Amino acid sequence: ARSINLAVIPGDGIGQEVVTQGLKVLSAVLPQDVKLESRQYDLGARRWHETGETLPEAELEQLKSHDAILLGAIGDPSVPSGVLERGLLLKLRFAFDHYVNLRPSKLFPNTATPLEGRPDIDFVVVREGTEGPYVGNGGSLRTGTPAEVATEVSLNTAYGVERVVRDAYERAQARPRKKLTLVHKNNVLVHAGHLWKNLFDQVGQEYPEVSTDYLHVDAATIFFVTDPARFDVIVTDNLFGDILTDLAAAVSGGIGLAASGNINPTGAFPSMFEPVHGSAPDIAGTGKADPTATILSVALLLRHLGHEPEAARIEDAVSADLAGRSGARTTDEIGDAIAVRVAS
Ligand code: IPM
Ligand code: MN
Repeated sequence: ARSINLAVIPGDGIGQEVVTQGLKVLSAVLPQDVKLESRQYDLGARRWHETGETLPEAELEQLKSHDAILLGAIGDPSVPSGVLERGLLLKLRFAFDHYVNLRPSKLFPNTATPLEGRPDIDFVVVREGTEGPYVGNGGSLRTGTPAEVATEVSLNTAYGVERVVRDAYERAQARPRKKLTLVHKNNVLVHAGHLWKNLFDQVGQEYPEVSTDYLHVDAATIFFVTDPARFDVIVTDNLFGDILTDLAAAVSGGIGLAASGNINPTGAFPSMFEPVHGSAPDIAGTGKADPTATILSVALLLRHLGHEPEAARIEDAVSADLAGRSGARTTDEIGDAIAVRVAS
């Protein structure tokens, strides 16, 4: 499209700082003839303290009119755990049917990894985003008593599993190695596990060029550390994907570099792009936050909207910037350096 109408939700903590850098790089990379409009939405901890609102219906409605959403981070120690997570972030993922939670991992040059020998890490996790234990289907009985019982039911539908598995096959097919790994725990979670495995095998018949394998999630965590180069595309459920992608970030440059896209591939609702990291209130306002994960999320946003050359330009600029990094730079300095590279 020759215009981008962006919604920006800076959120809490370092959210505003990293989003500012993401927008700086976005403006720098876009060609003159692509018109960029953006509107900021004041949502997060401060809004909740002032009004008790997390995401009012009116704003949810307005958000629908944008081409995409850029989100910084949400969460603050002054807000009870779960209020903003469920009431804002997960509400957006569910309301806008973000069933593909895309989380690429690549070990860029000159970046930290605790792994020996700098393995060639270049994989993408397709985390299901609208089902699993995240649906909030559960409850507790005799709450607060010694006899309390709590359930948290994982919801898995054939519809929901098939569409995310199919998306993962498409992504695997488009990559050079054409390899797809299903991660689950079907030796214990037999009901959901068999649904996933059966649909994985069934949809796979339509993608004969894609080679497949299956790993239990516990075994997968071992391979993330001992042999992450074996992975190309991974498809997994919402909770396994949440945990695996923090591990993926830890072995491939740290959480300061991990980008993500909450994608609705049908285009029925705007997709939302955000760094995997949280609001880091301990370093908010110090200029220590690394905006790179947000900048890489902007690349995913551009790719989703069909601006592939600009997306690639940002990724190349980040790679070059990381290769030359030495000593500490502020949030702003990193954003400036990458913006200069994408513009030239
Ligand atoms: C993430 C976060 C969220 C999740 C939280 C904040 C609800 O950890 O984006 O990975 O669990 O999905
Ligand atoms: Mn997480």
